[in-house]
Amino acid sequence: MPVQKIAVIGGGTMGSGISLTAATHGIQAVVVDINEDQLERAKKYHIKQIDRSVEKERLSKEEGDIALEKLNYVSTMQEANDADWVVEAATENIDIKKSIFIQMAKNFGENVVLATNTSSISITDLAAAVQGAEHRVIGMHFFNPVPIMKLVEVIKGNKTSEETTLATLQLSESMGKIPVPANDFAGFVSNRVLMPMINEAFHAWSDGVARPEDIDSIMKLGCAFPMGPLRLADYIGLDVCKDIMMVMYNGLDENPKYLPNKKLTELVDAGHLGDKSGQGVYTYANG
Ligand code: CAA
Repeated sequence: MPVQKIAVIGGGTMGSGISLTAATHGIQAVVVDINEDQLERAKKYHIKQIDRSVEKERLSKEEGDIALEKLNYVSTMQEANDADWVVEAATENIDIKKSIFIQMAKNFGENVVLATNTSSISITDLAAAVQGAEHRVIGMHFFNPVPIMKLVEVIKGNKTSEETTLATLQLSESMGKIPVPANDFAGFVSNRVLMPMINEAFHAWSDGVARPEDIDSIMKLGCAFPMGPLRLADYIGLDVCKDIMMVMYNGLDENPKYLPNKKLTELVDAGHLGDKSGQGVYTYANG
Protein backbone atom coordinates (compact mmCIF):
# COMPACT_ATOMS: atom_id res chain seq x y z
CA MET A 1 0.00 0.00 0.00
CA PRO A 2 1.45 3.42 -0.95
CA VAL A 3 2.72 5.61 1.88
CA GLN A 4 -0.02 7.99 3.07
CA LYS A 5 1.75 10.03 5.73
CA ILE A 6 5.41 10.78 6.35
CA ALA A 7 6.82 12.12 9.59
CA VAL A 8 9.98 14.14 9.00
CA ILE A 9 12.14 14.54 12.09
CA GLY A 10 13.84 17.93 11.87
CA GLY A 11 12.56 21.13 10.29
CA GLY A 12 15.88 22.41 8.95
CA THR A 13 16.81 22.80 5.30
CA MET A 14 16.64 19.09 4.45
CA GLY A 15 13.57 18.32 6.56
CA SER A 16 11.68 21.27 5.04
CA GLY A 17 12.62 20.18 1.55
CA ILE A 18 11.67 16.52 2.11
CA SER A 19 8.29 17.42 3.63
CA LEU A 20 7.52 19.91 0.85
CA THR A 21 8.38 17.37 -1.83
CA ALA A 22 6.16 14.74 -0.19
CA ALA A 23 3.23 17.17 0.04
CA THR A 24 3.49 18.32 -3.57
CA HIS A 25 3.40 14.63 -4.57
CA GLY A 26 0.16 13.93 -2.72
CA ILE A 27 1.60 12.52 0.53
CA GLN A 28 0.73 13.99 3.92
CA ALA A 29 3.84 15.25 5.70
CA VAL A 30 4.26 16.23 9.31
CA VAL A 31 7.38 18.10 10.36
CA VAL A 32 8.53 17.28 13.90
CA ASP A 33 10.91 19.69 15.61
CA ILE A 34 11.31 20.68 19.27
CA ASN A 35 12.37 24.15 18.13
CA GLU A 36 9.29 26.31 17.46
CA ASP A 37 11.32 28.86 15.43
CA GLN A 38 12.52 26.07 13.16
CA LEU A 39 8.93 24.92 12.61
CA GLU A 40 7.92 28.48 11.79
CA ARG A 41 10.78 28.78 9.28
CA ALA A 42 9.78 25.46 7.68
CA LYS A 43 6.20 26.66 7.33
CA LYS A 44 7.27 29.98 5.78
CA TYR A 45 9.52 28.12 3.32
CA HIS A 46 6.64 25.82 2.35
CA ILE A 47 4.22 28.71 1.76
CA LYS A 48 6.81 30.64 -0.26
CA GLN A 49 7.73 27.67 -2.47
CA ILE A 50 4.13 26.63 -3.09
CA ASP A 51 3.18 30.24 -3.96
CA ARG A 52 6.14 30.30 -6.35
CA SER A 53 5.03 27.04 -8.01
CA VAL A 54 1.50 28.41 -8.46
CA GLU A 55 2.88 31.68 -9.87
CA LYS A 56 5.06 29.68 -12.31
CA GLU A 57 2.05 27.48 -13.20
CA ARG A 58 3.81 24.28 -12.09
CA LEU A 59 0.84 23.79 -9.74
CA SER A 60 -2.73 25.10 -10.11
CA LYS A 61 -4.03 27.25 -7.25
CA GLU A 62 -6.15 24.30 -6.14
CA GLU A 63 -3.17 21.89 -6.20
CA GLY A 64 -1.15 24.43 -4.20
CA ASP A 65 -3.90 24.65 -1.56
CA ILE A 66 -4.12 20.84 -1.39
CA ALA A 67 -0.33 20.59 -0.90
CA LEU A 68 -0.46 23.16 1.91
CA GLU A 69 -3.26 21.25 3.61
CA LYS A 70 -1.10 18.12 3.55
CA LEU A 71 1.58 19.82 5.67
CA ASN A 72 1.55 19.85 9.45
CA TYR A 73 3.99 21.01 12.13
CA VAL A 74 4.35 19.49 15.58
CA SER A 75 6.91 19.55 18.35
CA THR A 76 6.78 15.91 19.55
CA MET A 77 6.95 12.53 17.81
CA GLN A 78 3.87 11.45 19.75
CA GLU A 79 1.77 13.98 17.82
CA ALA A 80 2.94 12.38 14.55
CA ASN A 81 2.74 8.73 15.56
CA ASP A 82 0.00 7.84 13.06
CA ALA A 83 2.51 8.30 10.20
CA ASP A 84 3.31 5.20 8.16
CA TRP A 85 6.87 6.32 7.30
CA VAL A 86 9.46 8.32 9.19
CA VAL A 87 12.56 10.08 7.87
CA GLU A 88 15.10 11.45 10.30
CA ALA A 89 16.72 14.66 9.05
CA ALA A 90 18.50 16.00 12.13
CA THR A 91 22.05 17.20 12.76
CA GLU A 92 24.84 15.07 11.27
CA ASN A 93 25.96 13.66 14.62
CA ILE A 94 25.80 9.95 15.39
CA ASP A 95 24.89 10.33 19.08
CA ILE A 96 22.03 12.74 18.33
CA LYS A 97 20.80 10.49 15.52
CA LYS A 98 20.97 7.35 17.68
CA SER A 99 18.89 8.94 20.44
CA ILE A 100 16.34 10.11 17.82
CA PHE A 101 16.20 6.57 16.39
CA ILE A 102 15.45 5.15 19.84
CA GLN A 103 12.54 7.64 20.13
CA MET A 104 11.37 6.80 16.61
CA ALA A 105 11.27 3.07 17.35
CA LYS A 106 9.21 3.79 20.51
CA ASN A 107 6.77 6.22 18.93
CA PHE A 108 5.97 4.76 15.52
CA GLY A 109 4.20 1.51 14.61
CA GLU A 110 6.14 -1.73 14.34
CA ASN A 111 5.84 -1.88 10.55
CA VAL A 112 6.91 1.71 9.93
CA VAL A 113 10.16 2.19 7.99
CA LEU A 114 12.73 4.20 9.96
CA ALA A 115 14.68 6.07 7.27
CA THR A 116 17.56 8.45 7.79
CA ASN A 117 18.68 11.31 5.59
CA THR A 118 22.23 10.98 6.92
CA SER A 119 24.79 12.14 4.39
CA SER A 120 27.69 10.05 5.70
CA ILE A 121 27.03 8.02 8.85
CA SER A 122 26.92 4.20 8.73
CA ILE A 123 23.37 2.86 8.49
CA THR A 124 24.42 -0.35 10.25
CA ASP A 125 25.78 1.68 13.20
CA LEU A 126 22.59 3.74 13.43
CA ALA A 127 20.41 0.62 13.19
CA ALA A 128 22.29 -0.92 16.13
CA ALA A 129 20.56 1.68 18.35
CA VAL A 130 17.16 0.06 17.68
CA GLN A 131 17.64 -3.65 18.29
CA GLY A 132 14.83 -5.72 16.85
CA ALA A 133 13.97 -2.99 14.34
CA GLU A 134 17.22 -3.05 12.31
CA HIS A 135 15.42 -4.56 9.30
CA ARG A 136 13.30 -1.37 9.05
CA VAL A 137 16.27 1.04 9.05
CA ILE A 138 17.53 2.44 5.73
CA GLY A 139 19.45 5.42 4.37
CA MET A 140 17.34 7.71 2.19
CA HIS A 141 19.78 10.47 1.29
CA PHE A 142 18.19 13.50 -0.40
CA PHE A 143 20.07 16.45 -1.90
CA ASN A 144 19.66 20.17 -1.38
CA PRO A 145 17.48 21.81 -2.68
CA VAL A 146 15.30 18.72 -2.29
CA PRO A 147 12.43 19.87 -4.54
CA ILE A 148 14.90 20.38 -7.42
CA MET A 149 17.55 17.65 -7.07
CA LYS A 150 16.50 14.36 -8.64
CA LEU A 151 18.60 11.92 -6.63
CA VAL A 152 17.87 9.81 -3.58
CA GLU A 153 20.94 7.77 -2.61
CA VAL A 154 19.60 4.57 -1.03
CA ILE A 155 21.81 2.76 1.49
CA LYS A 156 21.02 -0.55 3.16
CA GLY A 157 22.46 -1.50 6.53
CA ASN A 158 23.61 -5.09 7.04
CA LYS A 159 20.19 -6.08 8.42
CA THR A 160 17.91 -3.95 6.21
CA SER A 161 15.21 -6.17 4.70
CA GLU A 162 14.41 -6.46 1.02
CA GLU A 163 10.88 -5.30 1.85
CA THR A 164 12.21 -2.07 3.39
CA THR A 165 14.49 -1.50 0.39
CA LEU A 166 11.73 -2.07 -2.13
CA ALA A 167 9.37 0.25 -0.26
CA THR A 168 12.09 2.95 -0.19
CA LEU A 169 12.59 2.71 -3.95
CA GLN A 170 8.82 2.99 -4.46
CA LEU A 171 8.44 5.96 -2.12
CA SER A 172 11.39 7.79 -3.71
CA GLU A 173 9.83 7.37 -7.14
CA SER A 174 6.42 8.48 -5.94
CA MET A 175 8.14 11.67 -4.68
CA GLY A 176 9.43 12.29 -8.20
CA LYS A 177 12.99 11.17 -7.41
CA ILE A 178 15.41 8.70 -8.95
CA PRO A 179 16.73 6.27 -6.31
CA VAL A 180 20.29 4.98 -6.81
CA PRO A 181 21.90 2.41 -4.49
CA ALA A 182 25.21 2.83 -2.68
CA ASN A 183 26.88 0.57 -0.13
CA ASP A 184 27.27 1.40 3.53
CA PHE A 185 30.70 3.05 3.59
CA ALA A 186 31.28 6.39 5.34
CA GLY A 187 30.16 9.16 2.97
CA PHE A 188 28.54 6.61 0.61
CA VAL A 189 29.23 7.65 -3.01
CA SER A 190 28.00 11.24 -3.11
CA ASN A 191 30.09 12.65 -0.29
CA ARG A 192 33.04 10.30 -0.85
CA VAL A 193 33.47 12.10 -4.17
CA LEU A 194 32.05 15.58 -3.45
CA MET A 195 33.60 16.43 -0.07
CA PRO A 196 37.28 15.73 -0.92
CA MET A 197 36.76 17.96 -3.97
CA ILE A 198 35.36 20.75 -1.81
CA ASN A 199 38.17 20.21 0.72
CA GLU A 200 40.71 20.39 -2.12
CA ALA A 201 39.23 23.73 -3.19
CA PHE A 202 39.95 24.98 0.36
CA HIS A 203 43.53 23.67 0.02
CA ALA A 204 43.87 25.51 -3.31
CA TRP A 205 42.62 28.72 -1.64
CA SER A 206 44.92 28.22 1.41
CA ASP A 207 47.93 27.55 -0.83
CA GLY A 208 47.24 30.76 -2.80
CA VAL A 209 46.51 28.95 -6.07
CA ALA A 210 43.65 31.40 -6.70
CA ARG A 211 41.11 33.62 -4.94
CA PRO A 212 37.84 31.87 -3.86
CA GLU A 213 35.80 33.62 -6.55
CA ASP A 214 38.34 32.55 -9.18
CA ILE A 215 38.41 28.93 -7.96
CA ASP A 216 34.62 28.93 -8.26
CA SER A 217 34.60 30.61 -11.69
CA ILE A 218 37.16 28.12 -12.99
CA MET A 219 35.08 25.13 -11.88
CA LYS A 220 31.81 26.68 -13.12
CA LEU A 221 33.07 27.81 -16.51
CA GLY A 222 35.55 25.00 -17.09
CA CYS A 223 33.71 22.03 -15.63
CA ALA A 224 30.08 23.15 -15.97
CA PHE A 225 29.35 23.04 -12.23
CA PRO A 226 26.17 24.95 -11.34
CA MET A 227 28.02 26.37 -8.33
CA GLY A 228 31.75 26.49 -7.68
CA PRO A 229 32.98 24.21 -4.85
CA LEU A 230 33.51 27.00 -2.32
CA ARG A 231 30.10 28.57 -3.03
CA LEU A 232 28.61 25.09 -2.73
CA ALA A 233 30.38 24.57 0.61
CA ASP A 234 28.70 27.72 1.96
CA TYR A 235 25.38 26.52 0.54
CA ILE A 236 25.70 23.08 2.21
CA GLY A 237 27.06 24.58 5.44
CA LEU A 238 30.76 24.63 6.34
CA ASP A 239 30.03 22.81 9.61
CA VAL A 240 28.26 20.04 7.66
CA CYS A 241 31.24 19.77 5.24
CA LYS A 242 33.68 19.52 8.14
CA ASP A 243 31.52 16.97 9.97
CA ILE A 244 31.25 14.80 6.85
CA MET A 245 35.04 14.91 6.33
CA MET A 246 35.51 13.78 9.94
CA VAL A 247 32.98 10.94 9.56
CA MET A 248 34.97 9.78 6.51
CA TYR A 249 38.31 10.22 8.28
CA ASN A 250 37.11 8.13 11.24
CA GLY A 251 35.18 5.63 9.13
CA LEU A 252 37.78 5.07 6.41
CA ASP A 253 40.87 3.97 8.38
CA GLU A 254 41.84 7.48 9.51
CA ASN A 255 43.20 8.16 6.06
CA PRO A 256 44.69 11.69 6.30
CA LYS A 257 43.31 12.59 2.88
CA TYR A 258 39.93 12.99 4.62
CA LEU A 259 41.14 15.47 7.26
CA PRO A 260 39.30 18.80 6.90
CA ASN A 261 41.39 21.69 5.59
CA LYS A 262 42.66 24.10 8.28
CA LYS A 263 40.92 27.15 6.81
CA LEU A 264 37.63 25.25 6.68
CA THR A 265 38.04 24.30 10.34
CA GLU A 266 38.97 27.86 11.32
CA LEU A 267 35.87 29.28 9.62
CA VAL A 268 33.65 26.75 11.41
CA ASP A 269 35.30 27.48 14.76
CA ALA A 270 34.65 31.19 14.19
CA GLY A 271 30.94 30.47 13.60
CA HIS A 272 31.20 31.32 9.90
CA LEU A 273 29.06 28.49 8.60
CA GLY A 274 28.06 29.77 5.16
CA ASP A 275 24.64 30.92 3.93
CA LYS A 276 22.88 30.07 7.18
CA SER A 277 25.07 32.34 9.32
CA GLY A 278 25.45 35.09 6.70
CA GLN A 279 29.22 34.56 6.51
CA GLY A 280 31.33 31.69 5.26
CA VAL A 281 33.83 31.75 2.41
CA TYR A 282 31.70 34.66 1.16
CA THR A 283 29.58 37.26 2.95
CA TYR A 284 25.82 37.23 2.36
CA ALA A 285 23.77 40.38 2.79
CA ASN A 286 20.65 39.82 4.98
CA GLY A 287 21.69 36.19 5.56
N1 CAA B 1 13.73 25.12 -2.81
C1 CAA B 1 12.94 25.04 -3.88
N2 CAA B 1 13.26 25.53 -5.09
C2 CAA B 1 14.46 26.15 -5.19
C3 CAA B 1 15.34 26.29 -4.13
C4 CAA B 1 14.94 25.75 -2.90
N3 CAA B 1 15.72 25.82 -1.80
N4 CAA B 1 16.45 26.95 -4.55
C5 CAA B 1 16.27 27.22 -5.86
N5 CAA B 1 15.06 26.73 -6.24
C6 CAA B 1 14.48 26.84 -7.55
C7 CAA B 1 14.24 28.29 -7.89
O1 CAA B 1 13.01 28.77 -7.34
C8 CAA B 1 14.24 28.26 -9.39
O2 CAA B 1 12.97 27.89 -9.87
P1 CAA B 1 12.09 28.88 -10.74
O3 CAA B 1 12.00 28.16 -12.02
O4 CAA B 1 10.81 28.99 -10.01
O5 CAA B 1 12.78 30.19 -10.86
C9 CAA B 1 15.21 27.14 -9.74
O6 CAA B 1 15.38 26.36 -8.54
C10 CAA B 1 16.55 27.66 -10.15
O7 CAA B 1 17.00 28.54 -9.13
P2 CAA B 1 17.72 29.93 -9.38
O8 CAA B 1 17.28 30.47 -10.72
O9 CAA B 1 17.54 30.77 -8.19
O10 CAA B 1 19.26 29.60 -9.39
P3 CAA B 1 20.10 28.52 -10.19
O11 CAA B 1 19.63 28.33 -11.59
O12 CAA B 1 21.50 28.89 -9.94
O13 CAA B 1 19.82 27.16 -9.40
C11 CAA B 1 20.45 25.64 -7.75
C12 CAA B 1 19.99 27.05 -8.04
C13 CAA B 1 19.35 24.64 -8.16
C14 CAA B 1 20.67 25.56 -6.23
C15 CAA B 1 21.77 25.35 -8.57
O14 CAA B 1 22.70 26.36 -8.32
C16 CAA B 1 22.39 24.03 -8.23
O15 CAA B 1 21.98 22.98 -8.72
N6 CAA B 1 23.44 24.07 -7.37
C17 CAA B 1 24.13 22.86 -6.94
C18 CAA B 1 23.34 22.21 -5.83
C19 CAA B 1 23.98 20.96 -5.35
O16 CAA B 1 25.05 20.53 -5.74
N7 CAA B 1 23.32 20.33 -4.39
C20 CAA B 1 23.83 19.16 -3.73
C21 CAA B 1 24.54 19.57 -2.50
S1 CAA B 1 25.18 18.17 -1.62
C22 CAA B 1 23.87 17.65 -0.68
O17 CAA B 1 22.83 18.23 -0.62
C23 CAA B 1 24.05 16.40 0.06
C24 CAA B 1 24.99 16.34 1.13
O18 CAA B 1 25.04 15.28 1.72
C25 CAA B 1 25.87 17.42 1.57
